[in-house]
Amino acid sequence: MHKLAQLDHAHVWHPFTQMRDWLRREPIVITSGRGAVLRDVHGREYLDANSSIWTNLHGHNHPKLNAALKRQLGKIAHSSALGFANEPASLLAAKLVEMANGELRMANRDGTRAKANSQFAIRNSQLTKVFFSDDGSTAMEVALKLAYEFTRRTRGPKSKPRFLSLTGAYHGDTVGAVSLGHIDLFHKAYGGLLFKTDQVMSPYCYRCPFNRAKPERADARVTRKCNWECVGKVEAKCAAARKRGNDYAAFVFEPLMQGAAGMIPQPAGWLKRVTDIARGHGALLVADEVMTGFGRTGIADCRLPIADLPRVPPSPRQSEIGNRKSEILFASHAEGVAPDFLALAKGLTGGYLPMAATLTKQAVFDAFLGEYEEFKTFFHGHSFTGNQLGAAAGLASLELLAGAASVKARARLEGDLRRELKSLWSLPNVGDVRQVGLVAGVELVRDWRTREAFALEERAGIRVCEAMARRGVLTRPIGNVVVLMPPYCTTAAQVRRMVGALHEAVEEVLGARTPMSAAR
Ligand SMILES: Cc1ncc(COP(=O)(O)O)c(C=O)c1O
Repeated sequence: MHKLAQLDHAHVWHPFTQMRDWLRREPIVITSGRGAVLRDVHGREYLDANSSIWTNLHGHNHPKLNAALKRQLGKIAHSSALGFANEPASLLAAKLVEMANGELRMANRDGTRAKANSQFAIRNSQLTKVFFSDDGSTAMEVALKLAYEFTRRTRGPKSKPRFLSLTGAYHGDTVGAVSLGHIDLFHKAYGGLLFKTDQVMSPYCYRCPFNRAKPERADARVTRKCNWECVGKVEAKCAAARKRGNDYAAFVFEPLMQGAAGMIPQPAGWLKRVTDIARGHGALLVADEVMTGFGRTGIADCRLPIADLPRVPPSPRQSEIGNRKSEILFASHAEGVAPDFLALAKGLTGGYLPMAATLTKQAVFDAFLGEYEEFKTFFHGHSFTGNQLGAAAGLASLELLAGAASVKARARLEGDLRRELKSLWSLPNVGDVRQVGLVAGVELVRDWRTREAFALEERAGIRVCEAMARRGVLTRPIGNVVVLMPPYCTTAAQVRRMVGALHEAVEEVLGARTPMSAAR
C-alpha cells in the first residue's frame, strides 16, 4: 500500500463513510487533476464523473482560475470580514446580486460584453444583500437563522416560526440544516439535538403513489398519469398551518432537482405552482441552490412538455424566460421563481475553495438595523467569512460561466449526456434515468417492470460505483441511484466513457444485459 494511503488509514476519518469498509482496501489517493481527469499516486487516471462531489464546474487545474488565485495570493490570502471589507468579496457580492437578479452580462460572440437584453431580464430585484460563509450547510444555516429572526421581528416576538421542506430533503449537516432535512438514515441519531420542521411530499414521479402510469422505458415525469396530487399536498399543508394560526415562516426547497434525496427531478410547472402556493400563505421562499446553481440544471431547458401545464397558464415572464435559457444560471429562474433567500456554495468558486453565500432581500437586511444598544445585529459569522482567495476564485469562475465558450460547452455537454444515457434503458436493472441539464441520476432496481428496490444492505449503488472505478470512472451513489454530474469541460468521448463504464458496471454487478426489445 502506498505510504500516503497508509497514513490516511492511520489517521483520516472520512465523511459519510463506513470506516470499517474503508480500511479494508487501499484508497485511491488523488495527487493531481486536469480538466475532467483525476490522477492518483500510482499514475492511474480517472474521469471525475461527479465533479468532486458536485463542486467542480470548469475542470481541474483551469488556467484562468489558477491565474486568478495566483494574482490574489500575490496580494493577500485572507483578512477578517469582522471589521474590514476586502476587494474580491465586495466585487463578488456585487456580481452575485447582479446575476441573481437576472442581469448577468453575457459575453458576445466576438468577446465583447453586452448587457443582457433587459426586455428579457428576470426581474428579481429583491436580492440585494450577500452574507458569505464557508459551505452549503452554513449557507443554509444563515438562511434559516435569518428567516427565523425576520419572521419573529415581523410577526412578533411571541411567534413560533416553523419551516416546511420536502420529503427526503438534504440541506446540510449543521444542526439547523439537519433539522430542515428529512433523510432518516442520516439524521435520526441526532433527533435529540434537532428542532421540528414539517415535510411535504416531493414530486418523485418514479415512485409516486399517485402516479397511475405503468412502468415504461422512459422518464417517469413524461409518462406520469396523475392529478398533481403533490401540489395539492403543499396546498393542504399550508392551509393547515394557516388554520392553526401559524403560517409557515418559510418553504425550503431545491429547485428543479433534489440532489441528495436521490436526484429527484420535478415535473415542469411543479416549482412555480408550489412556490406560488407557499408565498400565497405568507411563507418566505428559501431556494437551496447549493447543487443546482451556476448553470448545473442546463441550457437547452430541462423543462419537459407536460400536457396539463396550461392549467397554470404560462405568464409572460415564463415565456420571456424561455428566450433567455442560455443565460439562466439558477434553477429557480427556469420557472420564474424569485426566492427571498438563495443559498449558494459548491460551484461558487468553480469547485476550488470552500466558500458559500446566502443572498437575501433588503427588507430582511433592514429588519436587523438599529442602534447599537438595541442589539438587533445578526450575531453570526465565521473566521474565514468573505475570504479573499475564495472570492477571487468565485469572480474568475463567474467570468468563465458568462463567456460564450462556457455557454456553448454546457449546451453540447447536456446534449452528449442525453444521447449517451439513452443506452441505459436497455438494462433490466435500470429503472429510471433522470436528467436535468448537466446532472443525471440512474436508479437501479431489481427489475424495471416491478420497480422493486434493492435493500440498502445490498449496497447495489456502491458496488456499481466500485466497478465503475475499476474502469477508470469515479462517482458516488446515493443509495441505489448512481449520479453522473461531469465538469462542464467534459468532452463527448469522456461522456461516452462515463456512461459506458456505468453500463458495463451494472451488467457486471447486477446481471446480464436484456435487449430493449426483450425488456418490453
Ligand atoms: C442541496 C444541498 N444543500 C446543502 C448541502 C450541504 O453542502 P456542504 O456539504 O457544502 O455543507 C448539500 C451537499 O450536498 C446539498 O446538496
